[in-house]
Amino acid sequence: MSEQNDSSLKLRDQEPQREQFLEEALQGLSAPRKQLPCKYFYDERGSQLFERICELPEYYPTRTELGIMREAAQGMAQRIGPECMLVEYGSGNSLKTRTLLDCLDSPAAYVPVDISKEHLKQSAEALDSDYPGLEVLPVCADFTRDFELPQPARKPRRRAVYFPGSTIGNFTTERAVEILEGGAKLCGPGAGLLVGVDLKKDRETLERAYDDSEGVTAAFNRNVLVRMNRELNSDFDIERFHHRAVWREDEGRVEMHLVSEVEQVVRLNGESIRFEAGESICTEHSHKYTLPGFAKLAGRAGLAVREIWTDESAHFSVQYLEAGS
Ligand code: AVI
Repeated sequence: MSEQNDSSLKLRDQEPQREQFLEEALQGLSAPRKQLPCKYFYDERGSQLFERICELPEYYPTRTELGIMREAAQGMAQRIGPECMLVEYGSGNSLKTRTLLDCLDSPAAYVPVDISKEHLKQSAEALDSDYPGLEVLPVCADFTRDFELPQPARKPRRRAVYFPGSTIGNFTTERAVEILEGGAKLCGPGAGLLVGVDLKKDRETLERAYDDSEGVTAAFNRNVLVRMNRELNSDFDIERFHHRAVWREDEGRVEMHLVSEVEQVVRLNGESIRFEAGESICTEHSHKYTLPGFAKLAGRAGLAVREIWTDESAHFSVQYLEAGS
């Protein structure tokens, strides 16, 4: 792990390297059903586009979750308890985090973990200056893989994972179980997990949330091709792929695809990738849950749901999990 000291904040850098991106891209694009891991959306431009998505009228999850946080952060902070070390997965712009931090009783440290280095630096620096008594220890890492937690100056009473934004829905059930298990293990005995979980609803609301009228989500989706061209020596013609979002009732998820408009061959680091006209790359799964469905998933990770907070329409939930049954 390298440490960067170019600002007042020390960033623990465990960012995935180009080789890993190349390997995962080649593997995904050689599969019978082409796919790419959605974590590669978040380069600098992708993170900016995602922030814009969060403000779109059609994208209900962010404002709904923020509303729940504003209503219930006090109760969530009580569940987490005093002098905790709060580890946030996929810290983003930390708006929701602030609502929680404002209610926590003398937190020992805040550890934002994010794959997008520049974005992480900026949000960690802003938090560091706005919360002078709080030790902020940013880690640039892929939280779906093993990474090391930094040691805070003050020994925490307990560690808790904050995993907002319904990012848990971007993983298959198996991976989601592993990630929850990993979070509980990382935080050790008495760990708590506060998780944002998006809930099932009508097709129209779901599909509009992932295919907005301004085309921001389409740009976000296609940006992964721009990134591959820049970083992986590929020659995707961006204009020849269009965005599609579809609710798959059978799988309980919204899928995002990039659909090839024509038959074409794309070069990727010396390899040829062939596309039929209409063939797509699946770039993201966004699972939606029922409350019993998510409790079952948590149970497979050895976790029990202790409390659930939702909005009035039950569009979104924030759930507090602990080890046990
Ligand atoms: C980060 N993640 C929870 C978002 C989602 O809703 O699945 C990513 C996203 N993709 C399209 N719009 C937003």
